[in-house]
Amino acid sequence: MAPGFVDLHVHLLPGVDDGPPDLDATLELAGLEVADGIDTATATPHVASVDVAEIPARVAEVNRALRKEGIPLVVEGGGELSARGVGRLSPAELDGIAHGPAGARWILLEAPLDGAVATLHRAADQLRDAGYGIVLAHPERCHPLFDHDMGGLRRELALGSLAQVSSSSLAGLHGIRARRNAVRMLRSGCAGLISSDAHGPRRPPSLTAAMHAACELGLTHEHAHALVAETPRSLLERGLRPVAHIGEGAAGCGRYVAGSDLSEGRRSFGAASAAAPSRT
Ligand SMILES: [Fe+2]
Repeated sequence: MAPGFVDLHVHLLPGVDDGPPDLDATLELAGLEVADGIDTATATPHVASVDVAEIPARVAEVNRALRKEGIPLVVEGGGELSARGVGRLSPAELDGIAHGPAGARWILLEAPLDGAVATLHRAADQLRDAGYGIVLAHPERCHPLFDHDMGGLRRELALGSLAQVSSSSLAGLHGIRARRNAVRMLRSGCAGLISSDAHGPRRPPSLTAAMHAACELGLTHEHAHALVAETPRSLLERGLRPVAHIGEGAAGCGRYVAGSDLSEGRRSFGAASAAAPSRT
């Protein structure tokens, strides 16, 4: 059987944030993930709501329950870090929510829903200085990032961040503006991957629908599939390297090459919307 989708943003841990209130609800959400074609997920609680040191044990408990119930989902630990929360974590705590191999570790950084773009840029710079690449969670919900021809978003992408569009935004669950921004990202090639940001049955995973929506927007099936499968899987296995400066073409939207060092020139800019991300 072909590998399934990989969901790098889902609130799956029981009783820690605004996700499932208990283990039964976690198993229900996990079942929805599997029904959506997902075989691997990272549990990404809001970091401010959880003791980071407890995440591995909580994830292990969820994996044990999944095996016991015969639900074929593999869960890895992670966290959704708010921009204001970056300075509050110790180096060990930052590493505790990071993914990828040494030298290509990355963190899921939340684009602030209150539109505090300057705070986001400062936080992102701080993470890069600490050696982390950044997967930017749902930038489409941070509307000022789209001012001035997406200047704020392009700044982050030019510095090596990868933009994670939420399938719930494409489904219209966060309003017309967020959906319009998500569509714009997909059409312009600025979307690096699509994850669910699922919280439960009322905000379920919908990666299959998002993939179809991407195809309807003009992406090839190969490209759309990569956004929900190959790219997120590669991010886990090969990571994302931080880049301080990439030079020429920095204002465009990059095409992600998993695990690549952008300074080696293995990332192409500006004409990515119709092509599938390369895999190395
Ligand atoms: Fe989230």
